[in-house]
Amino acid sequence: MHRRNQSTISEFLLLGLSNQPEQQNLIFALFLGMYLVTVVGNGLIILTIGLDSYLHTPMYIFLANLSFADISSISTSVPKMLMNIQTKSQSISYESCITQMYFSIMFVAIDNFLLGAMAYDRFVAICHPLNYMTIMQPRLCILLTVISWVLSNIVSLTHTLLLLQLLFCDSNTLPHFFCDLALLLELSCSDTMINELVLFLVGLPVITFPFAVILFSYICIVRAVMRISSTEGKWKAFSTCGSHLTVVLLFYGTIVGVYFFPSSTHRDDRDKIGAVLFTVVTPMVNPFIYSLRNKDMKGALRKLISRKSFLPLMP
Ligand SMILES: *[C@@H]1O[C@H](CO)[C@@H](O)[C@H](O)[C@H]1NC(C)=O
Repeated sequence: MHRRNQSTISEFLLLGLSNQPEQQNLIFALFLGMYLVTVVGNGLIILTIGLDSYLHTPMYIFLANLSFADISSISTSVPKMLMNIQTKSQSISYESCITQMYFSIMFVAIDNFLLGAMAYDRFVAICHPLNYMTIMQPRLCILLTVISWVLSNIVSLTHTLLLLQLLFCDSNTLPHFFCDLALLLELSCSDTMINELVLFLVGLPVITFPFAVILFSYICIVRAVMRISSTEGKWKAFSTCGSHLTVVLLFYGTIVGVYFFPSSTHRDDRDKIGAVLFTVVTPMVNPFIYSLRNKDMKGALRKLISRKSFLPLMP
């Protein structure tokens, strides 16, 4: 514990997911496994898309960006958590904590924007197929990606700069496995009214705008698919957005399930479950949804594994 009224706390304590010593090995193994699966799975997606020129379409470029964001997102929290379990330490420096918070906000925001961009791409592909080439030009694709990255950084920078104004006095203990903005606000001994107001004012459009784009796109997509007369044609049109829809449902389902349904679980536990789903589980399953359900990805992955793309000059 730090001295009372000390404004410059030098470190925070992350209590982790459990305080039971006998559970630490299990948590370590579980999270190490999930971390490796996420990095390898998403890494394979980036590699497959990068090496296969057939997949250099907006949908897959957004997907590669999503995979990159997922690897980065899980890398902000899990390695530090694993290290703390190994060294039996709970401390994280003030600077690391703020950095962790910055990136965790940024990568959730970027996931959100990229899912919106992907929905728009599917909307144009299915509802305006004849104009797809003229609308979804590489320039628009780059623009949407750049806007996503820039906006996410502005959002997390805003929260971080506001958080830096706060004082931390008697307590430096966070009942969590990474530095979460909401918990830091609770811990602070300053008035956090402005921070909470900004959290709401910035958070609301960041979540609702991409969600509105997704909703609007899917309303048009469903109506367009209904108009196709053959069952086979319906299935074909829908299969191109099935993976995206699964990821969207997973992402927003987590938000709704964790934050909107009052459950019998303790609030701290609910926050931790939500955080684990968001920072670890969603990034881990994204590549599986895309590679298992998608014929193009499967074909490209098979090509990659049979090393034709690595050794194009071999007979
Ligand atoms: C992300 O998108 C940009 C612009 O569309 C693209 O140039 C880049 O290769 C993508 N990133 C990854 C990791 O594929």
